[in-house]
Amino acid sequence: MAESFVITVEPLGRQVVCRDDQPILDACLRAGVWLPHSCTHATCATCKVDRVDGDVDHGEASSFALMDFEREEKMLTCCARPRSDVTLEAEIDIDEDIEMFPVEDYVATLVSKDEIAKDTVRLVLELDRDMSFNAGQYLKFTVPAGDSGDAVDRTWSIASPPTQPRTLEFHVRLVPGGRGTDGWVFKDLGVGDQFPVSGPYGRFVLHTGQDNHTIMVAGGTGLAPIKAMLRHGLENEMYEGEMTLYQGGRSREWLYDVDYFRSLAEEYDQFTYRPCLSEETAEEVAAAGDDPAAYGFGMVTDVIAADHASLSGCKGYLCGPPLMVEAALKTLMSKRLFPRDIYREEFFNEGDKAAGVNSPLIKR
Ligand SMILES: Cc1cc2nc3c(=O)[nH]c(=O)nc-3n(C[C@H](O)[C@H](O)[C@H](O)COP(=O)(O)OP(=O)(O)OC[C@H]3O[C@@H](n4cnc5c(N)ncnc54)[C@H](O)[C@@H]3O)c2cc1C
Ligand code: FES
Repeated sequence: MAESFVITVEPLGRQVVCRDDQPILDACLRAGVWLPHSCTHATCATCKVDRVDGDVDHGEASSFALMDFEREEKMLTCCARPRSDVTLEAEIDIDEDIEMFPVEDYVATLVSKDEIAKDTVRLVLELDRDMSFNAGQYLKFTVPAGDSGDAVDRTWSIASPPTQPRTLEFHVRLVPGGRGTDGWVFKDLGVGDQFPVSGPYGRFVLHTGQDNHTIMVAGGTGLAPIKAMLRHGLENEMYEGEMTLYQGGRSREWLYDVDYFRSLAEEYDQFTYRPCLSEETAEEVAAAGDDPAAYGFGMVTDVIAADHASLSGCKGYLCGPPLMVEAALKTLMSKRLFPRDIYREEFFNEGDKAAGVNSPLIKR
């Protein structure tokens, strides 16, 4: 039987009970004690805190995210499990405008699964009860055990706004050889299937108390949390400032929801939509009977750089593959945006974890 220990979270002075087989972050988020985190998969180091007292098992912490010399005094709360009572000290910078909701377990039923772009599906899930969350947060799915191995957790971002608390939309891209996508979502998962999920997780959320011009940059399914934020900001009138979406894809077959965002841009003056194609030319688009003027051409970062002499005073929201996010971060910073004004979510996967992919630019 699992033993339980007391985790003391400083400087809050809060105490949480955590099982010895449970990550400390999980126990805290379920108890409503918010700790910094992003990937929840031992990769990004956002959840690194000082271990003031007590022993832990560092679990799957990679030596990139938690270096050997740090292990005596620090831990990654997303994978550290207690071996005694533990006192930790974290930098907890809670935004007053953002309510954080405790993580809970739910049973999800798959309502629909549709191909929306090359190697990309839209999933719609119905939860067994309403869930409160912020626009931009994500869920953990339990990928069932099967031919390819034991059950594992995978994280996918909610693409629908919090005003739909029970019917949730997700966008999932196939990763060849991936346990969750290749081995489940794109293979066995069918309408009517039921499976456990937990959430909400993450801190990549729309900051509704601000009215700056937001520059949103989405690569691939990095569009999911950004779509949730845009819908919340525009349709639910939760954001007053201008919102510009740069959606990057290699060619038009990789983009999705283009018509939806075009109609949103027609309806809301505050919203500008810039779909960008990195491998398809204006001539190819015209030859296919489409209007080249409706697209930007080149890497999404090149299009942003050409569109704006300065982004001073703006806020950035970046989401997608780690390399794209890092490139967009550099572009926004070169246009005079401060790191503190750039919110981002990298879609790390197990391959990134094994390779030690991490962005060195900003202390998270
Ligand atoms: C906060 C967050 C939100 C996310 N939201 C979304 C979303 O909305 N939509 C979306 O599509 N994705 C999202 N992702 C990415 C998602 O969580 C998965 O990482 C992705 O779907 C791939 O999962 P998988 O199980 O198929 O692949 P994985 O099993 O993670 O494998 C990925 C690749 O790495 C290789 N690999 C696996 N293990 C190793 C190893 N030990 N060494 C070397 N290579 C290895 C695999 O062969 C495969 O090619 C998000 C990620 C994060 C962190
Ligand atoms: S949240 Fe723990 S390493 Fe990313």
